[in-house]
Amino acid sequence: MATPHLKNFIDGRWIDSVSGNAFEDLDPATGEVIATATKSTMADIDKAVEAAKRAADQWRLFPAPKRGEMLYRAGEIMLKRKDGLAREMTREMGKVLAESRGDVQEGIDMTYYIAGEGRRQFGDVVPAELPNKWAMSMRHPHGVVAAITPWNFPFAIPAWKIAPALVAGNAVVFKPASLVPAFSVEFCKVWEEAGLPPGVLNLVLGSGSSVGNLLVEDPRIRAVSFTGSNSIGKGVHTIAGRRGIKATCEMGGKNPCVVWEDADLSLALGGVLRGAFGSTGQRCTATSRLLIHDKVYDKFLGMLVAETKKIRVGNGLDPKTTMGPAVDQGQLDCDLEYIEIAKKEGAKLVLGGSRLENGDFKHGFFVEPTIFEGLKPSMRLWQEEVFGPILAVARFKTFEEAMKLANDCPFGLTSAVYTQDLTVSMRFVESMDAGMIHVNSPTIGGEPAVPFGGLKGSGVGDREMAKEGVRFFSESKTVFLDYTGQTRASNIY
Ligand code: UN1
Repeated sequence: MATPHLKNFIDGRWIDSVSGNAFEDLDPATGEVIATATKSTMADIDKAVEAAKRAADQWRLFPAPKRGEMLYRAGEIMLKRKDGLAREMTREMGKVLAESRGDVQEGIDMTYYIAGEGRRQFGDVVPAELPNKWAMSMRHPHGVVAAITPWNFPFAIPAWKIAPALVAGNAVVFKPASLVPAFSVEFCKVWEEAGLPPGVLNLVLGSGSSVGNLLVEDPRIRAVSFTGSNSIGKGVHTIAGRRGIKATCEMGGKNPCVVWEDADLSLALGGVLRGAFGSTGQRCTATSRLLIHDKVYDKFLGMLVAETKKIRVGNGLDPKTTMGPAVDQGQLDCDLEYIEIAKKEGAKLVLGGSRLENGDFKHGFFVEPTIFEGLKPSMRLWQEEVFGPILAVARFKTFEEAMKLANDCPFGLTSAVYTQDLTVSMRFVESMDAGMIHVNSPTIGGEPAVPFGGLKGSGVGDREMAKEGVRFFSESKTVFLDYTGQTRASNIY
């Protein structure tokens, strides 16, 4: 069978980039080329933004409840295609099928939730200072917005950004990570089939370094929503600041899970396993730091090592696999590099630590689930996001010591505490510098109706999801309505 070729989606048409160049899309479990994708440049961005600009002028006049109906239609199509979409996702970025289904479901939940927001574009009506005058506020879309998305949640994250942007009345230029072109095409096909007018959603394939920044620099782009690494996010935010446009950047994590002395250890075990090794650790919400109370340290670490040994690494399409490959050679190299760094800095390797490369693993990017202990805040594995299945463990004796360890890190996305003690839970909620806090549940697992995002190096700009996530995509417009027929203004005496 010929290798499929993936194109940009601009103004409702599937077209090749102006340059005619292409890049390869690999299956990370087998190293096979599954598709080629068109490689966009400045000229393609220009076309996409132009189409979006034209479409935005019409789309914003479409009543918001009707825009919401379009989202419901897209949600129905997503639901119908869920299994096929999940397979496609696993094939392209490697996570196991159950996780891919979860990713698609998260996108569906978000799309349905946001659809209802089409009927809730509320403003306020307040008494004006003068008689026979009204003062009120209403929402106004930005026009054309950019959605720049990562490869690790190729359905949920585009849905978090694009569904609210659309319901608020914007047209979108969507620039996904270059590792997931096939899936991004599938995402856009859903919206095409739902009947979104041409130009309201445009897809530009290509590498972030060549097209991402150009997109944010385009004077017609009025807001940008980005998810990815801290260094690229800060770059996006800098450009947006210089241009005076709104930006929300979600930029990773180094999330701690604290296991207190009275924790239900089997509950904590399930949470740590899912948090640390689910999605091969390639989540910004992954549990990458584990803090265990001295009194249960040996017992809990022993339980964790025993269960981690049972993880079955392999091709995510095999139903017996419980952990898939790293997404590509670059991520695999990064995982292996951090393993070496941790060893050199004096952390003790407890489990794993190697690439898997024999037999079935030969052509894929597989690494063992890995646990290090003896971590100190001065070590890079405690401070830096790896985005792989590498868990850094430290021991503590007091609450103060635990919080010092947990907060001594440049990131602050999410966190978890396992304890039966209400006082410990509430003190943790108060003292933890993180945008999201879980009590007796893993660090992973956001929900559409509550804000998603982090403190410190984990994020800048408004939160995503929930009411905040929709508000980001529009401005407030204030309207004064005077029905006296007289020349007057408030504040003139
Ligand atoms: C991410 O890794 O960027 O909360 C998003 C979670 C998922 C989303 C993770 N729903 O773990």
